[in-house]
Amino acid sequence: MEQAKLILSGKEYDLPVIVGSEGEVGIDVTQLRNVSGAITFDPGYGNTGSCKSSITFIDGEKGILRYRGYPIEELASKSNFVEVSYLLIYGKLPTEDELTRFKYLLTHHSLIHEDMKKMFEGFPASAHPMGVLSAMVASLSAFYPGHENPEMKELNMIRLIAKLKTIAAFSYKKSLGQPYIYPRNDLSYVGDLLHMLFAVPSEKYEVNPVIEDAMDKLLILHADHEQNCSTSTVRLAGSSQANLFATISAGISALWGPWHGGANQEVIEMLDLIAKDNLDYKKYIELAKDKKSNFKLMGFGHRVYKNFDPRAQILKAACDNVLNELGVNDPLLEVAKNLERVALEDSYFIEKKLYPNVDFYSGIIYKALNIPVQMFTVMFAIGRLPGWLAQWKEMTDDPSLRIYRPRQIYTGATVRPYTDLKKR
Ligand code: SDX
Repeated sequence: MEQAKLILSGKEYDLPVIVGSEGEVGIDVTQLRNVSGAITFDPGYGNTGSCKSSITFIDGEKGILRYRGYPIEELASKSNFVEVSYLLIYGKLPTEDELTRFKYLLTHHSLIHEDMKKMFEGFPASAHPMGVLSAMVASLSAFYPGHENPEMKELNMIRLIAKLKTIAAFSYKKSLGQPYIYPRNDLSYVGDLLHMLFAVPSEKYEVNPVIEDAMDKLLILHADHEQNCSTSTVRLAGSSQANLFATISAGISALWGPWHGGANQEVIEMLDLIAKDNLDYKKYIELAKDKKSNFKLMGFGHRVYKNFDPRAQILKAACDNVLNELGVNDPLLEVAKNLERVALEDSYFIEKKLYPNVDFYSGIIYKALNIPVQMFTVMFAIGRLPGWLAQWKEMTDDPSLRIYRPRQIYTGATVRPYTDLKKR
């Protein structure tokens, strides 16, 4: 086996090297502190592998993304969200019987307990739906306790996928002050989500197949992305053996941030701002380059992709198609394309390898599908749920799991005596 050598204070240490199935190389430092007393230092974990995983592969230099070995481009064009969810969680494409059973379970667990409706009542109409989603998902633990055995674990994963769209739609209806629309068992997963979001009791709601198809693709593109911030949060919270609902609620909270899934909402707000400011692209590019401004080009940059984000490319192409098919003319699409062009001609963005990420074009499609801006990150969460579940299952099925617990380099005061209040 290949070894890495570390020389520290004149002493030499051999560190094992592990190689992944795609040739990724990692230096195994699990025994480093035991043998040398030192730890590794990597704020933001840019060089740290936190786990072995067989779910998602990304090559950020080549712009490759695969779920369980299948290229994202193929899954987005040939599969559907329910099948991709199965693939992520169970590690293989389902047979016809397996898919039928999976769909049946997702359909027949989509109701939430009626008592949960009282909890929606308590939120102000202005509440951000991500806060509501996180709180309601955590509270599912009160209604569906326990995941002690594999059957309960699977049932709770199914419950979550089935119920998340109901909770998301109820939180939207609550923000409008409209009556909740209950799930319908004759619709597809995405069709049912659209129905619960947009139907009103006095009218018959027909699911538009163009919208259904576009939404399905969006969810597939968001379904997993290896050890990103929210997924790492799910693993971290779940490693303490916290219950699944609390664990996923933690992931939703992490996703909400504007540097992560919350960026899709911020992108539309930024494009709007640029449009209203006489399309002064240069001004915002310069602002993004100025570290003192605290302004970033939202939807740009990525920890892993240093060439292009394949999801952003699929979405950019899909924007034109979806808007055409729906007969929507959104001037923000032109603003986005122009901003991308101007940014990618700028030496700052070229040198730092900053390209549009998944959040840059997704908002324009959500908008065309009539999804309100505040719900964009909720859509991301619905898409990401099977990925979180697959990663949680992979981790908790592993008998060698240890609680996630990083160390630190302490930089505070050294020992000092306590001083009485009057002497300070
Ligand atoms: C997602 O990780 C995942 O996989 C996430 C995700 C998923 O599917 O789970 O892909 C989803 O979260 C997409 C990202 C959405 N966020 C944004 O669009 C917000 C804007 N982007 C940035 O905040 C940033 O690029 C991050 C958070 C996405 C990545 O941060 P990194 O990896 O820590 O990069 P960095 O901040 O160290 O950037 C390197 C340099 C810095 O400048 P220097 O210190 O070297 O001078 O590039 C600059 C940054 O200041 N930079 C930007 C910028 N992004 C990075 N400058 C201006 N505008 C930006 N958007």
